[in-house]
Amino acid sequence: MQEDAVGGLTAAMALVIAALVTVVVVYRCFFRYGPVLSTGFKLFGINKPPFATVVGYTAPDFETLRDLLKVGFESGDDLGCQFAAYVDGILVADIATGFTDRSFTVPYTQDTLQLVFSTSKVITCFVFMHLVNTNRLALSDLMSKYWPEFAAGNKANVTIGDFLAHRGGVAYLDKERVPTPEDLLDLDSLASKLAEQPHNFDGKTVSAYHAVTRGWYLNEIVRRVTSGKTVRDIMYEEILPLINERDLESGEDKEKLPGESSEAFQFHYGIPLAPAHVAKKIHATKAQLDGYSFVQKAFYGLSPRRLLLALKQYPVPPSLIKAYFSKGSIQNLALMASGPDFSKRPVRDNPWCYNDPVLLASSSPSFSGITNARSLVRLAELVRNSGKNGNGSPQGLVSRAVFEESLKPIVPMEDKVLLKMFELTQCGLGMQKIGFGAFDTGRVGEGLVWYGGAGTGGSVLYFELEYNITFCFTMNFLHLQSTGDKRSWRLIEELVRIVKLKKMEENSRK
Ligand SMILES: *[C@@H]1O[C@H](CO)[C@@H](O)[C@H](O)[C@H]1NC(C)=O
Ligand SMILES: *[C@@H]1O[C@H](CO)[C@@H](O)[C@H](O)[C@H]1NC(C)=O
Repeated sequence: MQEDAVGGLTAAMALVIAALVTVVVVYRCFFRYGPVLSTGFKLFGINKPPFATVVGYTAPDFETLRDLLKVGFESGDDLGCQFAAYVDGILVADIATGFTDRSFTVPYTQDTLQLVFSTSKVITCFVFMHLVNTNRLALSDLMSKYWPEFAAGNKANVTIGDFLAHRGGVAYLDKERVPTPEDLLDLDSLASKLAEQPHNFDGKTVSAYHAVTRGWYLNEIVRRVTSGKTVRDIMYEEILPLINERDLESGEDKEKLPGESSEAFQFHYGIPLAPAHVAKKIHATKAQLDGYSFVQKAFYGLSPRRLLLALKQYPVPPSLIKAYFSKGSIQNLALMASGPDFSKRPVRDNPWCYNDPVLLASSSPSFSGITNARSLVRLAELVRNSGKNGNGSPQGLVSRAVFEESLKPIVPMEDKVLLKMFELTQCGLGMQKIGFGAFDTGRVGEGLVWYGGAGTGGSVLYFELEYNITFCFTMNFLHLQSTGDKRSWRLIEELVRIVKLKKMEENSRK
């Protein structure tokens, strides 16, 4: 009798201890430390990562951004990242911290090149503004004007502007048309498959985020209006020289990959097929992508929203949860299942599959931008400046009229894929009018209108016209948020705070 009671007590105690251990393990593995740090470090303090050092430049009064950049690395939310910003046409920050790899050996610097996923779409909008500016197309033109086969399957009424604004009706592709990385290299065959794809919504204008398809279709339009040039060619031959102020086609630069230079501006739509030694040079500097393990995705994706909020964690957006866990949902079809088809590739897990060299050789202007924060911010600043100067290079990219027309908002619609109102401009730039952040109160950068966009995992590139701010955050460790995450939000908040304070001081001095 007594022995039974003791046995019961021991069992109860064992249960309590097991429960406590579980709570501590879950807390330390998922909440106390970010996903970058190893379980060994989180539980036992072994394999401590090195101290974070911030490299690069900050203008006087902007130094606090350096400490904030470090927070992400120190908390284990960041592996390597960059932040760059312009205010009133002047570079005020160009900083980086962390490492290019999980073994913390190669530092991440402002020069490190990085795949930025959908932030590439912002650049593709700029390319289209440039094409409008050089009279090669109009946003109101039908896609089928240049590509008659595109009209098939109820797509006859889709304009280029609709397409840029994710209203092209081909947010996802039917299974038989989903391209493999190899398929993407044959542009003619790709184009005929894309043209055959029926409209996803029977020809009705619907907002549905074209996560991967947008770039492939737009690339074909560019080929047709420029007799064969790709979006990548336009970047290298027309936009890049404008920024680097020299023609890379000429003279001694022949050996170099276009755009591969020691100068500040570097933007590559993937890594084109090039002589091995040239390609290797870029590979060597491109940081590999890293991200949540399956267990981490499941934990953050499936934990109750309230629990996450109570522990000051940002819940994963519903669209991403559906994309990952609900096969056949429109989110899954548009964000994951429309290609590239990685099923026969050596690496299939997301995001590591996007390091695939064959994929990177393709023209995929929706997601293949390889660049750094400093370059992205430079190009966005050039576009922003167009609104002010508006007479083309070197101060602006396009005329003031094209700039103003491109930035006019279109009537917003609830997006079927993203499950939220999607505010966009005529040329398909994203508009962030309610600030950044997952919480409904206290959003970052609230009250200003931000133009730009964000990429899977955390990269963001935006400018605004009231305080003349342009900023960019890029990184190699992907989080499960849709428009930046706490790593960039804290930097935006501080940047806006500093700028507003400086303007107030300037005004009171006047
Ligand atoms: C295109 O627009 C015209 C005129 O509004 C309409 O009659 C036609 O049905 C539309 N075509 C498709 C494929 O939706
Ligand atoms: C932003 O730039 C415009 C054009 O140069 C200028 O008129 C305006 O005063 C600037 N905004 C601020 C808050 O300084």
